[in-house]
Amino acid sequence: MAFEWKERYRLGIEEVDKQHRKLFEIGARAYELALLDNAFDRYDDIMAVLQELLDYAQYHFSYEEDFMRKHNFEDLPNHTKEHNYFVAKVKSLLAREREIDEEQEQTLQEIADFLSEWVSTHIMFVDRKYTTLFPKS
Ligand SMILES: [Fe+2]
Ligand SMILES: [Fe+2]
Repeated sequence: MAFEWKERYRLGIEEVDKQHRKLFEIGARAYELALLDNAFDRYDDIMAVLQELLDYAQYHFSYEEDFMRKHNFEDLPNHTKEHNYFVAKVKSLLAREREIDEEQEQTLQEIADFLSEWVSTHIMFVDRKYTTLFPKS
């Protein structure tokens, strides 16, 4: 599975869609690095991109949570739990250094698959819920 934006991820909220696209852009860079023949030499680059993905995801999650808090949105606790799960998971993946070092290609692909799958599912089923808070344009 590639890490790429698809039209069905669009929620129709400009700022949120922009941030989601950016998450996919960063993810795609990690994925491409992981698939290179010389991924071994790219170890530091790959970890740096995964860290960047984590940082940007945290920024994006705060943006969404602030928005939902401002509107007293009932799904906030559940939504925050999902975000926290992802952050903890990516942190634990980044800590699997030795494994990544030894089984690079397979491990990195697994990581990229997980990230891509989680982000797309989250957007379509969890983020979509708060779109009711945005006035239709
Ligand atoms: Fe999101
Ligand atoms: Fe979210």
